[in-house]
Amino acid sequence: MSDTLPRKIEKVLDRNLALELVRVTEAAALAASRWTGMGRKNEADGAAVEAMRRAFDTVAIDGTVVIGEGEMDEAPMLYIGERVGAGGPAMDIAVDPLEGTTLTAKGGPNAMAVVALAEHGNFLHAPDIYMEKIAVGGGLPAGVVDIDAPVAENLRNLARARHCEVSDLVACMLDRDRHQELIAKTREAGARIVLLSDGDVAGVMSTAQPAAGIDIFMGSGGAPEGVLAAAALRCIGGQMQGRLLFEDESQVARAREMGVSDPRRVYAVDEMARGDVMFAATGVTTGAMLRGVQRHGQGAITHSVVMRSKSGTVRYVEAHHNFTTKTWVWN
Ligand code: FBP
Repeated sequence: MSDTLPRKIEKVLDRNLALELVRVTEAAALAASRWTGMGRKNEADGAAVEAMRRAFDTVAIDGTVVIGEGEMDEAPMLYIGERVGAGGPAMDIAVDPLEGTTLTAKGGPNAMAVVALAEHGNFLHAPDIYMEKIAVGGGLPAGVVDIDAPVAENLRNLARARHCEVSDLVACMLDRDRHQELIAKTREAGARIVLLSDGDVAGVMSTAQPAAGIDIFMGSGGAPEGVLAAAALRCIGGQMQGRLLFEDESQVARAREMGVSDPRRVYAVDEMARGDVMFAATGVTTGAMLRGVQRHGQGAITHSVVMRSKSGTVRYVEAHHNFTTKTWVWN
């Protein structure tokens, strides 16, 4: 059966949309890159947010931010509920204009600008609290690791599935005091650890990138970052479980308002990011997956990844930007 013309046009627009997203993350990364290594994380974040907000004005969607910079009264732009886009299909948007503000300020690795997009109602509306996470890459038996299983058991099961020893495995987690027990148990079990100072979206994504040399991600980090990481894994493949971590009743109440009916629920990748998910990220500083922004006299080179769950296509995009024509980057 041949496509009718409107359906063909719809498909073309649909495809363009995935590629349009990369412009949005490029804009944020370029703006943040002016602050790399300058010790001023708020300025870096502010620049990324503003550039991303403006770049959305050129994308043909009627977008609603569901994972963003915070509540309307605490974030001037890209707040939860904000409408963005130039008009078009209704989409929900998850953003982190600068994932790794401190990394950027210190010139550390893995900072990036991140956006995910899906049709309305497909992202978990995660409040800005912590989430316990566990993730492994693709091609492994379903349920090979379980957030409720002891660390040693997960590592043994993963090693068996990978046909290797636990001592061959590399686990990754944020370097935080709250992870002392997790770190001790992982080492006791015999696995090696890469400790990240920040940036757990990249940490989770690296489990799905064989070249990154990370076999499993464990531990807690931001819940919004958890949803973004799940969106990425939906596209590249991989398993992840996440559970919201509440510090008090007000956080539980806020989560309920946002649609979380069971606060103890464990979410799988496709429960955090459902449907046809599009994901783009541009490196701000160089990391395991993406090169950072390379600035030079008249412009800069950016390195991004654009992915889509429906097609499973993963594209790496190297863009050469000319600042003499792209004046908005400086504003
Ligand atoms: P920011 O970019 O907002 O600074 O977040 C960096 C980050 O490391 C995230 O990747 C991670 O999810 C979160 O902070 C962890 O929070 P905390 O620093 O409180 O452990």
